[in-house]
Parts: sequence; C-alpha cells; structure tokens
Amino acid sequence: MPTSALTSASGRNRPLPATGNHSIRKARLAILLSGRGSNMVALVNAVQHGVLQELGEVVVVFSNKPDAPGLETAAALGCPTASLSSQGRKRAEFDADVVEVLHRYQPDYVVLAGYMRILSPTFIRAFAGRILNIHPADTHQHQGLHAYEWAFENRLPETKITVHLVDEGLDTGPILAQHAVDLRGADTLAEVERRGLAVEHRVYAETLAELIKKERHAEPAEASRVASPD
Ligand code: GRF
Repeated sequence: MPTSALTSASGRNRPLPATGNHSIRKARLAILLSGRGSNMVALVNAVQHGVLQELGEVVVVFSNKPDAPGLETAAALGCPTASLSSQGRKRAEFDADVVEVLHRYQPDYVVLAGYMRILSPTFIRAFAGRILNIHPADTHQHQGLHAYEWAFENRLPETKITVHLVDEGLDTGPILAQHAVDLRGADTLAEVERRGLAVEHRVYAETLAELIKKERHAEPAEASRVASPD
C-alpha cells in the first residue's frame, strides 16, 4: 500500500506530492487490454524510458481474457498482471468484480488499450473522469469497432486518432487529443492499420503525460493540504 496514495474530496486518487518530502509521486496506471497489447507495450516503453518516465508507473496490466497475448507480453516487460475471465458473465456483475480487483492497485488512471468490453455504469462511476481510451478514428464520426476498416472501405484520405475520457456512452467522452493520420496511397487495410498504430503508439503516451502534468499543476493547494502529516 503506497503511503502517498491520496484520496481527494471526490474520492479519487490524485497524482500529488508525496507526504513528507518534495518529490512528486508518480501516477499509478492500470492498463486494460483484451488482445495483443501493442498500445500497452508503447505505454510501458514510455514509462520505462520515454515521456512517462518521471510521471507514471504501471501498477497492473489487467485483462478480461486470461489468455490474451498482451498479458504475457506485459509480464515479460516486468509489469504486474491480473485477469478475470468475462466469458459468460453478466456485464454489471463482472465489472463489479473488476472494480474490486483494480481497487487493490489504487490506480489514478485506468487506461484502456484494446479492452474489448463496453463498460457498465458500475465501472465508469468507480473511476469517473479517470478512464482513458484510444480510438482509431474521430469519435464524432465513428464509434465502436472496426474503425480502420471503415476508413479503408471509405477510402478516407485521413483518419484521426482520438484519445478521450470514457463516459457512459460508446466513444462519446470528452476528447483529450486528436492526431491526423495521412492515409493517401494506403492501398491495403494492413497499411492503413500500420500507419494508424504508429500514431496511436506515440500519442497515447504523450496525451497521458500531458494530462498528468496538467493535473499536477492544477491542484498544488489541495496536495499540500491533504498530504501534510500534521
Ligand atoms: C487499437 O487500434 C486501439 O485504438 C483500439 O483497439 C486496438 C488495440 O490494439 N481501441 P492493441 O491491442 O493495442 O495492439
């Protein structure tokens, strides 16, 4: 249990200064995936030697699929892992169990990285305003699965990778960042995905880093007040 895991008035952990010294504790990241986990790898790389190095730590990589390849990759990268099979489970009941598991790790942010589940209100409310997702299209134009197929089939000249906060709708939460991907001349779906994923892997970590920095600067008064030992 980290001594510096602070809970604000809103009941959320905050990436705030640690108690008793002037160092800033790192934001605790729970990464959720269901598949290969290439975005997870990019995030872990950013934590280990990139833009998230001084800002975040991966406290768990969780999957609803115990055999997801991304879990094994995460373990090989040195990350704690956890899983609970969602197979045959009712959404709200499963999500309540996931919330219980995740609470053990006290995440500041829940980072969805190819987590192929629609989240129930139970889950969203447990981490309100703290859940991020990356969507491989402009969420105003396309929601749900198969965004690269959509861009390819419609021969779009570009698509927009979107990082957003997750609310109770499907890809409807507030947008944190969007980055255009030039798709001109991409004549296979594989090429569309290759170009898109290269951008995804860069912008997810960058956006998360910006968010952590912004929240650190936004709440220094609350930090020193809550963190003060006396
Ligand atoms: C990515 O395209 C991401 O944008 C979407 O699901 C895919 C996951 O890929 N939400 P990976 O497992 O991170 O490789």
